[in-house]
Amino acid sequence: MTAVATDRLIAPHGGELVDRTGTRPDDLESLESVTLTSREVSDLDMIASGALSPLEGFMGQEDYESVLEELRLANGLPWSLPVCLAVVEAPKGDRVALADEDGRKLAVLEVMAMYTYSKETEADRSFRTTDANHPGVARLYAQKDNYLAGKVTVFDRPEPQFPELALDPGETRAAFAERGWKRVVGFQTRNPIHRAHEYLTKVALETVDGLLVHPLVGDTKGDDVPADVRVRCYRTLLDGYYPQDRVLLSAFPAAMRYAGPREAIWHAICRKNYGCSHFIVGRDHAGVGDYYGTYDAQLIFDEFEPHELDVEPMFFEHSFWCKACGSMASAKTCPHGQDEHVFLSGTKVRELLAGGAVPPEEFTRPAVAEVLIEAYRS
Ligand code: ADX
Repeated sequence: MTAVATDRLIAPHGGELVDRTGTRPDDLESLESVTLTSREVSDLDMIASGALSPLEGFMGQEDYESVLEELRLANGLPWSLPVCLAVVEAPKGDRVALADEDGRKLAVLEVMAMYTYSKETEADRSFRTTDANHPGVARLYAQKDNYLAGKVTVFDRPEPQFPELALDPGETRAAFAERGWKRVVGFQTRNPIHRAHEYLTKVALETVDGLLVHPLVGDTKGDDVPADVRVRCYRTLLDGYYPQDRVLLSAFPAAMRYAGPREAIWHAICRKNYGCSHFIVGRDHAGVGDYYGTYDAQLIFDEFEPHELDVEPMFFEHSFWCKACGSMASAKTCPHGQDEHVFLSGTKVRELLAGGAVPPEEFTRPAVAEVLIEAYRS
């Protein structure tokens, strides 16, 4: 098969797609081993695949502090969230093996430095709160007290949860090019695709060549709908209601941070690496509870000049079904009062499903509701 030219697509963040995969070193068994949490393993794998380009390893102190204070890497390139490896103490050698929680060795890290950090400062900058009830902050407070920095070489990639949906940035780029797409919009979600999500993706698709439905399948908090159930929902919806030649479904292997605005920037940059020229940001993107304002994740894009991120955010107002319009709408497009609007929060829907009730058709298509009800029953 001849390779398809991907040069019509948006360039990766920093210019080049990073590849930190490599071969297992002969002296692996003699190296000290550091155990990674599942979130760190997903970060490691995304460094390997180039999803976190231009990162080649876990962040050093200069990048880390610059990201927290300036929303940029030390070289000035926009970057919004730390990608760090927490350890108890400095390893002895100048190279360490990185293993998952089952002890399987995945990579080698060339030790650059170890540094201490303030969990409160990181929480305040990344999550805009130091409240330990925030799931991202709770995770941060529970982690080890130092960061180990250095380039990684990954020789054993973790088994993807959905092998048929696992596409690295180089592979999504090739898939876009093969279809002749140039302008591609990426859609992040950690939920089943309800009517509102469908509306955003289809409105966005009207103005570009293709849509990457890119559900996050890494760690999420306990009450989010499990990824395997969501994947069944995505397949049902995409098979029945989206044109196959305009949509690509693939899994985004990241863990959820719940960092709202900063995570929206991070999500956009990652999707740029996967080849997306556009990225959807709706209401309370990557939010949790009441920690962020409805449109904070859109406003943060104003911190950058448009050309700096390159990837174009597509902002959407809070959308709902309007009975009087007989369609999906938002405050921008609908003149009717709230009594005409069908709005349910994700929490409300989960409550309905847990009680065996069917969410209204205006909220979730019956075919998707069926999958969800079946999953909640069992
Ligand atoms: S997220 O954590 O991945 O952002 P979710 O899966 O609910 O959560 O949202 C996916 C995307 O759809 C986000 O960009 C979010 O802002 C947007 N979104 C979800 N529901 C709505 C809605 N009713 N109106 C507008 N945007 C929405």
